[in-house]
Amino acid sequence: LTATTTLANGVQMPWLGLGVYKMDGDNEVKEAVASALEIGYRSIDTASFYDNEEGVGQAIKQSTIPREQLFVTTKVWNSEQGYNETLAAFERSLTKLGLEYIDLYLIHWPVPGKYKDTWKALEKLYKDGKVRAIGVSNFLEHHLKDLLKDATVKPMVNQVEFHPQLSSRSLRDYCSQHHIQVEAWSPLGRGRYLDDDTLQALATKHGKSPAQIMLRWDYQHGVVTIPKSTKKHRQEENAAIFDFQLSDEDMQQLDGLDIDKRYGRHPDEFDYENS
Ligand code: A2P
Repeated sequence: LTATTTLANGVQMPWLGLGVYKMDGDNEVKEAVASALEIGYRSIDTASFYDNEEGVGQAIKQSTIPREQLFVTTKVWNSEQGYNETLAAFERSLTKLGLEYIDLYLIHWPVPGKYKDTWKALEKLYKDGKVRAIGVSNFLEHHLKDLLKDATVKPMVNQVEFHPQLSSRSLRDYCSQHHIQVEAWSPLGRGRYLDDDTLQALATKHGKSPAQIMLRWDYQHGVVTIPKSTKKHRQEENAAIFDFQLSDEDMQQLDGLDIDKRYGRHPDEFDYENS
């Protein structure tokens, strides 16, 4: 749980964190974050869109864990994009979280015609020392290429939907060439195919659960993962992936599950006008 990857700028980011998408802004998120921190999670991934940054911030404060031991990610929402708008959105997130800086600030989705100005704002926040690292989310290769044309700071992270049915090999290769750390959202494929035969067989082989097999597969692919669970026993289960190893053959079997299947939105088919 304390294992970290080194981002392009030297910042240490935990390999495993807690995602809090769709957790209710009051008690649900507070309890989930509090229990995760108690178990030993040190990375929490929220977003302005989730409308639960206040609850996340309260749980962090109540935990009394020193700030420098935590890694907090939040994201600028689509309707907040643009240079000045993003600078203002960042301040709102900071206030809601009750923090003095953010570890990782991401552009939530590549809103056409806006994300480049938004990136300029992230570069400013980074240069001003208000965020330790900046990155993007849901960027495909063509978005990254476009962004890199004028970026003065390269994104350090790209957070995308990633699980064995969507293993995005070429995007991962592209990111690795540019030292962009890939991070997985919905690493459990929303829990929709935990009963898959290959996952079940590998789970039996290793004495682990299908969820643990999926999360270990992320780690062995060098992908940061942020499974979401509101339940303490599942948070514990999801964190127990550092005590076993998948063989090359196990990894190939899991890679073979790829069918380019998204459970979330496709970045090029998102109705950005109405988000
Ligand atoms: P719950 O909060 O009830 O534990 P994803 O991160 O891929 O979107 O998937 C999250 C979903 O998977 C949540 O609905 C969560 O439900 C469920 N989940 C999280 N961890 C596990 C696990 N270890 N086994 C089964 N389901 C899980």
